[in-house]
Amino acid sequence: MIKSDLENLKKEVKEALEKAGNLDAIEAIYKKYLGKKGDIILILRSLKDLPEKQRKEKGKLANQIKQLIEKEISKKKKKLKAEGHKTKKEWFDITRPGRKMKIGHLHPLTQIKKIAEEIFESMGFEIAEGPEIETEWYNFDALNIPADHPARDMWDTFWLRQNDIKNQKGNRELVALLPVITPQLSKNERLLLRTHTSPVQIRYMERHNPPLRIIVPGKIFRHEATDVSHEFQFYHLEGLMVGNNISVANFKAVLQEFFSRFFRRQVKIRLRPSYFPFTEPSFEVDVSCVVCGSKGCLVCKKSGWLEIMGAGMVHPAVYKNSGLNPKGLTGFAFGMGLDRLAMLKYKINEIRWFHSGDLRFLEQF
Ligand code: DAH
Repeated sequence: MIKSDLENLKKEVKEALEKAGNLDAIEAIYKKYLGKKGDIILILRSLKDLPEKQRKEKGKLANQIKQLIEKEISKKKKKLKAEGHKTKKEWFDITRPGRKMKIGHLHPLTQIKKIAEEIFESMGFEIAEGPEIETEWYNFDALNIPADHPARDMWDTFWLRQNDIKNQKGNRELVALLPVITPQLSKNERLLLRTHTSPVQIRYMERHNPPLRIIVPGKIFRHEATDVSHEFQFYHLEGLMVGNNISVANFKAVLQEFFSRFFRRQVKIRLRPSYFPFTEPSFEVDVSCVVCGSKGCLVCKKSGWLEIMGAGMVHPAVYKNSGLNPKGLTGFAFGMGLDRLAMLKYKINEIRWFHSGDLRFLEQF
């Protein structure tokens, strides 16, 4: 760039300033010439590449022009401000309402889990947890469900290959989890996403001697097609109480107390004979319908009762497989779906809403 170019630039800016009728136009001129990538700033920056003599000469001139332009700009700015001009940035509407901060809240299933936990804790139950990836032993065999036994058909299972997990180099957390799941994981032991929370019965009794009272809330998985009342992942709440002389009457009393407090109304409990390999005898537990008050409605299919969980008196094999001597031990166990409890309490008719992430649903809780 030669001297005359600089002089032209000066002229250009002067003309532009004369035309500028408001403060925003002045801002634009400032940006074009003196902003970070402004014409004059770029010239000043390029000086360092010139031979010394030229650099001195041009630098002086460019700096003079820069100062001149700054002066002109501030002069024009003052003039416009005196005339009452404001920039867009400076103007704001103080009467406009502010933006509300969005505050989230616990997911309805988490709320239900907390309510259930609080009631059981007040009755002396401790909260236990277990891994969501289980071994075949804990999920099935230890619970008296041997391979090839037809009872396995009660649980549709997601099997995992050990090597697939170990080869997931990117997923270090998962690989690190394996020894937590089981310290001596044998090479040919099969892994799966747990189909129920019952394996935690075994895990807990391996480390604790009766008398004991626990609940186990947690996520479980089933290889199922989904519909309004089925999901492939949902929450269960397991319960286990073991000691001396624990009876079915004790079981019924605990449940009656739990459900009455959970649904905030007096409920009745009904036991029907059923079958689970890890209990003997086994029951299906019904509560009097909390939707219609047992009068008969669509939810209870006009029966007045809601099927709410599976349960039973702990099978001696379960104690044995936990390393306990079954002699003299009695206890009950139960397992129920937390999603279903939430659906009944809040009258939700579609289980898939829970994992939909839809705020129109979630914001109602
Ligand atoms: N684990 C059972 C299921 O997934 C539920 C269940 C039934 C749990 C009976 C228990 C029980 O502890 O005693 O369907």
